Amino acid sequence: MDPQFDKIGVFVSGGPAAGINAVIKGIVQEADNHGMQVLGYLNGAWGLVHGRFVQLTRQMVEDIHILGGSLIGISRHRVDEERDLPAICANLRREGVDGLISIGGEGTLQLADRLRRGGIRVVHVPKTIDNDIAGIPRSFGFDTAVHEAARMLTAIKLDAHSSGSWFVVEIMGRYTGHLALEAGLAGGCTRVLIPEEGPIDLEALLSLIQTRARCGHSWGVLLVAESAHFGAGHLQRYGRLGGVSEELASRLSQLCEERKIEARIRTSNLGYFLRCAEPTGFDRAYAAQLGLGAARFIRDPDRAGQMVTVCDDHLEGISMESVAGKQKAVDLTGARYQALTAFAAYESTQTDLADLARVQQTAPRSLNWLDRHADMETVEQMAMRLGVATQDLLEVLEDIVQVQEGEAAAGSSACSAS
Ligand code: F6P
Repeated sequence: MDPQFDKIGVFVSGGPAAGINAVIKGIVQEADNHGMQVLGYLNGAWGLVHGRFVQLTRQMVEDIHILGGSLIGISRHRVDEERDLPAICANLRREGVDGLISIGGEGTLQLADRLRRGGIRVVHVPKTIDNDIAGIPRSFGFDTAVHEAARMLTAIKLDAHSSGSWFVVEIMGRYTGHLALEAGLAGGCTRVLIPEEGPIDLEALLSLIQTRARCGHSWGVLLVAESAHFGAGHLQRYGRLGGVSEELASRLSQLCEERKIEARIRTSNLGYFLRCAEPTGFDRAYAAQLGLGAARFIRDPDRAGQMVTVCDDHLEGISMESVAGKQKAVDLTGARYQALTAFAAYESTQTDLADLARVQQTAPRSLNWLDRHADMETVEQMAMRLGVATQDLLEVLEDIVQVQEGEAAAGSSACSAS
């Protein structure tokens, strides 16, 4: 550890993610343990360039770990290497800042690496709801975004089910589908579309709509990552990724109309609801560890230039140089994607529900037949042919018997009353 170290600078760059304040608090707590001061540079790299900061005190950070957003602001301020780097170095020197902690996503990591090459001692804390940073399994903010998205998708799914609608819902994630994938799994979406799969297959979606309609399910939720595309590049709106849900809904509606397929199609966008939500317990605790790690690493000359992470309950560092400019895509052979495709197949066939419905419709015949032939082995064979569990089939049959008995009783009392 560097004994001469007594002032840390910190800045937050990119888009917000839940847990930023918990990282800041962790940094201040550990710095305070070692008698160090922390300067919070305001509004991202803008504060560094213009020398605007606040000194972070114990009082200021007391309860901030439970809050979304960023106590010291955040921005996507662009740093011009030639013009701004000398100003940043001069500002840090003037305030006596010995080392700088950057909190941010992939873009900020590249900036941190440039500052490192410019001679500034830097440690980076990976942050993003997109979870696309190479070298680490999870970035803070991702868990909260998945949790919030799942909550909203559950409500949308109920709306779709009760109103008999198809919802096309857009979700952030930049150029990868991590957020869509996990939110889709957690929210029980009918189908999730991510950029790693290649262009969106409209025919497959139309057949999904038709198959489900045949099984009496004229509803569903399609979750689409903002960078999912139709093969001709990512869609943009206001100079940002976005608009794919509207485009997909409009293409599907048109095709449904042309082919006389009945479907009520609606859109929704989870967009900016996910980044500043109240951090989950996981994100608060994880971010606190990252803050502690950053405040420790920055004092250690061997750790300078590293990105902090936690691996198997241990703080670890990854050289920024080795991951800057790289992006982690969804592994299509991984367990998460396998779960997604398996559940998508399940949602698009629904054979069990269709067959159970058929059993219910032909109930009187089946019951008469059962009366004469049923033994456990026969029921088991029937269940196998229907592709359902024997227990489930027995329960359906019991329901049918109850309904039949109820109807018979109602019929006889109606007769005796007349
Ligand atoms: O990188 C985080 C992120 O939330 C992306 O998911 C999204 O594409 C982008 O930020 C939106 O950025 P802005 O806040 O500039 O609109």
